Amino acid sequence: RRCIYLSRHGESEFNLTGQLGGDSNLSPRGDLYAHKLPQLVKEAVGDQPLTVWTSTLKRTQQTARFLPYRQMQWKALDELDAGVCDGMTYEEIKQEYPEDFEARDANKFEYRYRGGESYRDVVARLEPIIMELERQENIMIVTHQAVLRCIYAYFMNVPQDRSPWMDVPLHTLIRLEPRPYSTLETRVPANI
Ligand code: F6P
Repeated sequence: RRCIYLSRHGESEFNLTGQLGGDSNLSPRGDLYAHKLPQLVKEAVGDQPLTVWTSTLKRTQQTARFLPYRQMQWKALDELDAGVCDGMTYEEIKQEYPEDFEARDANKFEYRYRGGESYRDVVARLEPIIMELERQENIMIVTHQAVLRCIYAYFMNVPQDRSPWMDVPLHTLIRLEPRPYSTLETRVPANI
């Protein structure tokens, strides 16, 4: 049976400082995850063929760089664009754009950052990815928190407006096995 493997990129420098978006490098701990990932994936996938999809941002490619499989980059897998808030922390957004901060909390799925995207926008741009995923064999996707939440919600049959609240922790390999009426899920923590 074919499976879909999902992982966030390893911890990035921006994750450490609490800044949104950007294109930072992995932190030392994130790099440890990149080194551990081939073993984790090998144990889950065995000898079956696999293709790895990443975003165009450095932190996903750095995370996937030791995986011995064919790799493809998709712009559609880039993180939710925080527009004018890109590079800011939640605390800074609260100071500078208090109304936006509240509006987002009130309706996280629909809220669109100024000059950026909403979760609904991300779901829309993921459509080609989802279509391609439905046609493919084993795929592993290394991407970002918001994007992963949307893909995860789709396969787990969770209503779209709940996607912003899905729990997708760092340094964890998620294995989804789509079945006719439900999707089987396994989570393998890297313990890093
Ligand atoms: O903090 C990491 C991150 O991937 C940001 O780049 C992104 O804006 C955020 O998570 C998405 O999570 P939330 O929608 O909960 O703010």
